[in-house]
Amino acid sequence: MKLVVIGGGSTYTPELIDGFARLRDTLPLSEVALVDPAADRLELVGGVARRMFTRAGHPGLVTTTTSLEEAVPGADAVLIQLRVGGQAARNVDETFPLACGCVGQETTGAGGLAKALRTVPVVLELAERVRALSPEAWLVDFTNPVGIVTRALQRAGHRAVGLCNVAIGFQRRFAANLGVDHARVRLDHVGLNHLTWERAVYLDGVDVLPSLLDRHGDEIAADVGLPAALLRRLGVIPSYYLRYFYAHDLVVREQLASPPRAQEVAAIERKLLEIYADSTVDTKPELLEQRGGAFYSEAAVDLVASLLGDRGDTQIVNVRNDGTLPFLADDAVIEVPARVTATGAAPLPVAPLHPLMAGLVAHVAAYEDLALEAALHGGFERVATALLAHPLVGQADVADRLAGDLIAADRDHLSWA
Ligand code: G6P
Ligand code: MN
Repeated sequence: MKLVVIGGGSTYTPELIDGFARLRDTLPLSEVALVDPAADRLELVGGVARRMFTRAGHPGLVTTTTSLEEAVPGADAVLIQLRVGGQAARNVDETFPLACGCVGQETTGAGGLAKALRTVPVVLELAERVRALSPEAWLVDFTNPVGIVTRALQRAGHRAVGLCNVAIGFQRRFAANLGVDHARVRLDHVGLNHLTWERAVYLDGVDVLPSLLDRHGDEIAADVGLPAALLRRLGVIPSYYLRYFYAHDLVVREQLASPPRAQEVAAIERKLLEIYADSTVDTKPELLEQRGGAFYSEAAVDLVASLLGDRGDTQIVNVRNDGTLPFLADDAVIEVPARVTATGAAPLPVAPLHPLMAGLVAHVAAYEDLALEAALHGGFERVATALLAHPLVGQADVADRLAGDLIAADRDHLSWA
């Protein structure tokens, strides 16, 4: 089994490699091909990845190349985990909206739109080349904003599933709270990527969410950055991305008082690269735990193993709606439990959403549709309209100003600007 990682030079890659090494019985890889335009990073990351496989006794090869044409032939699955413009572009996403009193975040609001605009064309172009080289390969998209990028890939007819670690993070965390093996815990997780709620936590089929909230509510609330009283009142657990909505102005104040996450991450990345350069390092460094990607590798192993091995198990992924949430378009991408087989991920039926969730999901899904139009066709008006449709922007003068700022700041990454 051959797996290609586009953006394989990411400092995150050892997280993936660690999972591939530990779970090699689930996903027997003969080759992991890391492909990345940044040759120097690729060599450092490739080096530590090879040493990790050797230490773990993994028989698979880790290859590195800057050429997609070299990497992709023979691939069974291709993971896309790139970041157009690197942390410098992220830094802009996290700062320019603040001048308008809006949250600065790389996957939602105006920053998320900026990321979508520069990312969608790049991913689509790569996906075309992948399809020409290995038409049967599955595309697994980690690249944010996952909902919009996955929707773009599916609309272009690619075999693509979007993946995020929020759901698996909750599942593992609740299992630890309950003191049980994670395989016994299943979530009623619903929404759009980075806009989800846990409505139930099933332990062996019995919903234990109320008792989890009784016993661990304060801790869980602190982790998602929202008041415990709110979680208890709603009776659901929002993901920490809901904080940008439910505590928007508070987050803006915090952001104005501290450096953007991009700067912290850039510092972590510099240190990680130094660690990877040390030829005695052959395990995943602890420092990687300061990044947000916990359990990515396990989610990726499960998804690829079921797509290639037709396992038919249930996983929480980003899939085409196809009527699952009846108030959304069929081609919207939703994040819900899905049955994963060799023909793809098919969403399982979802109980009707509470108006609190349905309203926001519909609102953000409409924004995502307009954001994709702006990413595909460009232009100030499309950008401003997408911003007007975003619940975190919503006012015409703010949308216009943010559209102008966004286009000016990201001009180098936008072919039409
Ligand atoms: C979580 C999200 C990812 C996001 C990451 C950011 O894992 O699910 O989509 O990319 O956090 O982490 P970072 O360390 O880059 O801030
Ligand atoms: Mn995510």
